[in-house]
Amino acid sequence: MIKSINCGELRLSHAGQKVTLAGWMHKRRDHGGLIFIDLRDRSGLVQVRVDPNAGEAYHAADDARGEYVLQIRGTVHARPDGLANPNMETGEVEVEAEQIKVLNTSKVPPFPIDDDGTKTTETLRLKYRYLDLRRQRLQKNLILRHKVITFMRDYLDAQGFIEIETPMLIKSTPEGARDYVVPCRVQPGKFYALPQSPQQLKQLLMVAGYERYFQIARCFRDEDLRGDRQPEFTQLDLEMSFVERDDVLNLVEALFTALVPAVTPHKRILTPFPKLAYRDVLDRYGIDKPDLRFGLEMTDLTEVVKGSEFKVFADTLAGGGVVKAICAPGCAAYSRKQIDEITEFVKGQGAKGLVTLAYTAEGVKGSAVKFLKETEFAAIADRVGAQTGDLVCLVADQRAVANKTLGLLRLEFRDRLNLAPADLLAFAWVVDFPMFEWDEELQKWTFAHHPFTMPKEEDLPYIESDPGRVFSNAYDMVCNGCELASGSIRIHRRELQAQIFKALGYDTDEMERRFGHMLDAFDYGAPPHGGMAPGIDRLVMLLADEPNIREVLSFPKTASGSDLMFDAPAEIDEKQLRELRIKLDL
Ligand code: AMO
Repeated sequence: MIKSINCGELRLSHAGQKVTLAGWMHKRRDHGGLIFIDLRDRSGLVQVRVDPNAGEAYHAADDARGEYVLQIRGTVHARPDGLANPNMETGEVEVEAEQIKVLNTSKVPPFPIDDDGTKTTETLRLKYRYLDLRRQRLQKNLILRHKVITFMRDYLDAQGFIEIETPMLIKSTPEGARDYVVPCRVQPGKFYALPQSPQQLKQLLMVAGYERYFQIARCFRDEDLRGDRQPEFTQLDLEMSFVERDDVLNLVEALFTALVPAVTPHKRILTPFPKLAYRDVLDRYGIDKPDLRFGLEMTDLTEVVKGSEFKVFADTLAGGGVVKAICAPGCAAYSRKQIDEITEFVKGQGAKGLVTLAYTAEGVKGSAVKFLKETEFAAIADRVGAQTGDLVCLVADQRAVANKTLGLLRLEFRDRLNLAPADLLAFAWVVDFPMFEWDEELQKWTFAHHPFTMPKEEDLPYIESDPGRVFSNAYDMVCNGCELASGSIRIHRRELQAQIFKALGYDTDEMERRFGHMLDAFDYGAPPHGGMAPGIDRLVMLLADEPNIREVLSFPKTASGSDLMFDAPAEIDEKQLRELRIKLDL
């Protein structure tokens, strides 16, 4: 080895030892002759002192620049009294250099390595990702990610799961996104699809009798990117045979309950994870991935304002709409400007407007006050639990609009009022999802989870006659407003699977062409089975308190799907296109 010990490992107990270090020159300070170098390797930093009479070593130190790769031989000393640096793990010692060898030089990096990256444009960070990854912040994230994955592997191994790799070059497996496709050279005109998830393969492993499978699986989805979405991402994919819903939930809950304190001891979690029905979640939080770190639930005031002469309420109710509200504690003193801001906010999300009632010591204030009666103020306050000093925000609209806009306003108040404790991870299960969703654009029913999900037994008679009333055995795990995992009990019988495909609009030919292998497999003793898939990137993002998924991936893509370092995607050679028999017509 070119080094005998890592920089970050040096402690007082090493004083007197001769060591050989190797790493990057993080910083250099010249103290009137004496040179101090902070030498960095993956383990951390250590201070190296280079005396003017250290000969060659001194000249090397004098010539060295930021990010030069140095090998330094020297002796570890305790720092003199009063000079220890409590902010540095190795702050009690320094290494007195005897020999310095430059292993490599470096150009001046395009951005400083010693900040957290927030001062540099992301374009530059991604172009020079290998430099960006030298930063402590990203290093911490990737190490955390490694710990999370190692924990999962060990935990599941101990529970009798086996890790099985499944292929990347397959046929379309629908998860609601577009496929990435790969042309096949030896079969011109034919394409593989990269898996949107190993969904079908893991089910086939259950048919094959493996009973407990998992995989740290890479998934590929061509979809619009957001802060918590990447075109390729990683799931902890798992599947179990002979289980019911709660067997899967209990296993995953136990895994997460053990994982969080092991990898992030400073985080708090609340156990057991509450189980909330999809419909209730929408009614209370307006969104199917609620942030449960704080209250501020929505209240339905439809009954309370029934008969009100206020035209906005009366017209909405007459049109089949609802009136819902949230109560922002201590916000009755909101200024005109602040009220305008939150009004514009809900309008921007699609609401027609926002009614605000400020419950002050001098009475109720707000633009709609003159249209409402004292008894109505009292009834509203009573229902939403408003006290003097609170601001009640009401939206009168169709249910879906009121839920969505107030749900987002709830999150806006979370940020304005700092309601969510940063150290808390509020996990919950969302259960009892509808089986189908109506696709307005295509004017047909589509699946809410994926087409392999088992409908609720009692709803089986309605699959064809009334798909909208069919609920499924699907479940999500949510945490702090993020959808962390999805799963379901699966269909394991051919007839039912074919019936679902039919309800989704596939004719027999297409069904056979796309999913014949699944239907065939169900003919050979497929066991009852179910599973789920937590998203590892999103989990690490939450554990690391990172606002964007890109901060927890080694080489992420931009919002437009580019890898700025490789400059991918890119054109390919004419020769490659010819081999693939592909002719571009742009
Ligand atoms: P689903 O499509 O809900 O379910 O995905 C499961 C979890 O994967 C994560 N995830 C993503 N993470 C980053 N970028 C993306 N583009 C992205 N898309 C999804 C989320 C999500 O909750 N086969 C089913 C699972 C099953 O039924 O077992 C599936 O893939 O955290």
